[in-house]
Amino acid sequence: TVHERVDTFHDNDQKPVGYGRMLRKEDPRFLRGRGRYVDDVQLPGMLHLAILRSPVAHARIVSIDTSAAEASPGVKAVVTGAMLAQQNLAWMPTLSNDVQAVLATDKVRFQGQEVAFVVAEDRYAARDALELIDVEYDVLDPVIDARRALAPDAPLIRDDLDGKTNNHCFDWETGDEAATEAVFARADVVVSQDLVYPRVHPAPMETCGAVADYDAVDGKLRLWSTTQAPHAHRTLYAIVAGLPEHKIQVISPDIGGGFGNKVPIYPGYVCAIVASIVTGKPVKWMEDRSENLISTGFARDYIMRGEIAATRDGRILGIRTNVLADHGAFNGTAAPVKYPAGFFGVFTGSYDIEAAYCKMTAVYTNKAPGGVAYACSFRITEAVYLVERIVDCLADELGMDPAELRLKNFIQPEQFPYTTKTGWVYDSGNYEPTMRLAMEMAGYDELRREQAEKRARGELMGIGIAFFTEAVGAGPRKDMDILGLGMADGCELRVHPTGKAVVRLSVQSQGQGHETTFAQIVAEEIGIPPADIEVLHGDTDNTPFGLGTYGSRSTPVSGAAAALVARKVRDKARIIASGMLEVSVADLEWEKGAFRVAGDPGRSVTIQDIALRAHGAGDLPEGIEGGLEAQICYNPSNLTYPHGAYICVVDIDPGTAQVTVRRFIAVDDCGTRINPMIIEGQVHGGLTDGVGMALMEMIAFDEDGNCLGASLMDYLIPTSLEVPDWETGFTVTPSPHHPIGAKGVGESATVGSPPAIVNAVVDALKPFGVRHADMPLTPSRVWDAMRGQARPP
Ligand code: CDP
Repeated sequence: TVHERVDTFHDNDQKPVGYGRMLRKEDPRFLRGRGRYVDDVQLPGMLHLAILRSPVAHARIVSIDTSAAEASPGVKAVVTGAMLAQQNLAWMPTLSNDVQAVLATDKVRFQGQEVAFVVAEDRYAARDALELIDVEYDVLDPVIDARRALAPDAPLIRDDLDGKTNNHCFDWETGDEAATEAVFARADVVVSQDLVYPRVHPAPMETCGAVADYDAVDGKLRLWSTTQAPHAHRTLYAIVAGLPEHKIQVISPDIGGGFGNKVPIYPGYVCAIVASIVTGKPVKWMEDRSENLISTGFARDYIMRGEIAATRDGRILGIRTNVLADHGAFNGTAAPVKYPAGFFGVFTGSYDIEAAYCKMTAVYTNKAPGGVAYACSFRITEAVYLVERIVDCLADELGMDPAELRLKNFIQPEQFPYTTKTGWVYDSGNYEPTMRLAMEMAGYDELRREQAEKRARGELMGIGIAFFTEAVGAGPRKDMDILGLGMADGCELRVHPTGKAVVRLSVQSQGQGHETTFAQIVAEEIGIPPADIEVLHGDTDNTPFGLGTYGSRSTPVSGAAAALVARKVRDKARIIASGMLEVSVADLEWEKGAFRVAGDPGRSVTIQDIALRAHGAGDLPEGIEGGLEAQICYNPSNLTYPHGAYICVVDIDPGTAQVTVRRFIAVDDCGTRINPMIIEGQVHGGLTDGVGMALMEMIAFDEDGNCLGASLMDYLIPTSLEVPDWETGFTVTPSPHHPIGAKGVGESATVGSPPAIVNAVVDALKPFGVRHADMPLTPSRVWDAMRGQARPP
């Protein structure tokens, strides 16, 4: 394990040929405003689509009159659910084997649901005509509180499903119930805590949208869309539309943030495709901010009871949890098929315990569908919050320091690979040094002294710790698929005659810097400078098949594919080099960028020399074809398990209950690091997300089902004013099964930071006898907690 604090930033002067800090290749275009996003796509004759959305959460549709809208200037078409139903297109499959209405036919089931669309010559004409569509609704009682969804008198939401008589969505369990009960029965101490992880929204800066262009002459559909998974989307469109895949090209250009929000297929994409087929013209649909917040994939919404059993001296024996999951009106979660609760099974955290059990019930409510992995590997954020909060509750009960309690219970380095009591095989980890580095950077003992002094003066200062283990890199094909599509990733590498190269990926960057880091991976393996390696992604006609970017899977899966494809090219280059140097392959030594004759270092050929020979005149060694390229489809043998130790220091104003995050120390271990600068950026972004979720963000509803977070005036996301200067550090514990030892990192900070912040706030409120308060810890929530009136949201 390597311990390292972040050194000072330096630029590309070092010109790394491989891993290291390197400015992002994509930034010149982003920083100059030259990114090309879906909304930048302009095609000749392009029409514009706008969607009419339901103003109510639950209602029967009595009638829809579109005549005035059709007569409105510039309008080319007005389409309702009934019209789609005639073509059997009114419903579409979700990524969780449910169905979702493209346009409502019978009922609307959440506020903001798609009811009709208008296609017009420009965006304004389309929006104006929406106002002229007359819909008569017969309003029904909505189900808003998930706790009421299974009440016998609860209104039935999904009467479209045959034989459905209640709002039950699915049940799921993991672990060993009897063994856990036995452990709880003999424990000295059992602590229980109810926790709510509220509904939040990924809120990417760019909202969702698409441009569909169906060419009736060659029968080809081109779709520019804001998708994190272009290949998976193409196959699903092919299945639904009955078109062959080669007649569908999905292009995901520059994407202004995804965070899981751009994984599902939204009705708007389908509407744009239908509109282009109906009108024979290219059609653009771009949602606005409110549409994004009220109708696209939300995240979390878990109501959890956590229980932890331990010995009096602080040995954790077991963890048990009961979860009520609110899945909204349609089950639109994007998770591998066998994992309806995502990877929530890692709720046992980083601790070596004897037994664990989880029982989950998921329900339908009259809210937008989703449950997406918002900067999280499929529900791990919820799992980490649960375990890190109840470990703190236990520390409180035992009167033990929360750092000491964690250190006492960590899985030890020699126990890896470690199989958890819920069946996850953690690949590698060395937790104590990571924790100790965070404590050293924080000056933990000094902070506790400062806190004691302040407490004596009536000041409210809190120190919160969270230690997480994530499971990222979905996933091994034997276990993981999305709607039958295995989660392996293709990668192609082609070295041109002059030694410049292009690498084609199936994953799609939404700002994570793939054009830089994937070039670095290939550079490290074959010694061509990153500047000479172009990374192509986001276009199904020009990249190999793969399942896309979410759950920090790019580095664990496609990153491995890129390293292995480069090694394949290097193997071929070695044979060509042996011919060029007239020695046997065994006599060649590889030094990044060149093969040398062992014992005769003066004789060597560079990878560029070899590329020219591969394409040039003259014979190649027997059995070797011309060209220097390779392709691969990488099926990971396991997930990768990054970990991290986070320490947060907060101050609370006793007069206003305003929480200020004064310091935040984040030590991450993502195995081998490709570009430390990009990793820092990922961590900074995730920590900022964490402050948002812990202190500010919640998609709330009133009792009628009106969404109260429909604009960024109400749904507060953090700015630079709300966050401190992040203090980051790293340890390095490589993954044993990943070809370069790398683990994902993109989501670690979003996963690990909310419990650290909440633990800090609760710690600050200890003088008031507070053991827990639910997120978001807004001043009013903190005030209520201080007055002993904390209540679940
Ligand atoms: O799938 P996604 O790109 O969102 O997440 P990731 O695989 O964790 O990668 C996020 C960014 O961090 C990418 O540019 C990676 O190449 C980079 N990274 C890195 O430099 N070293 C690592 N060990 C992991 C990620």
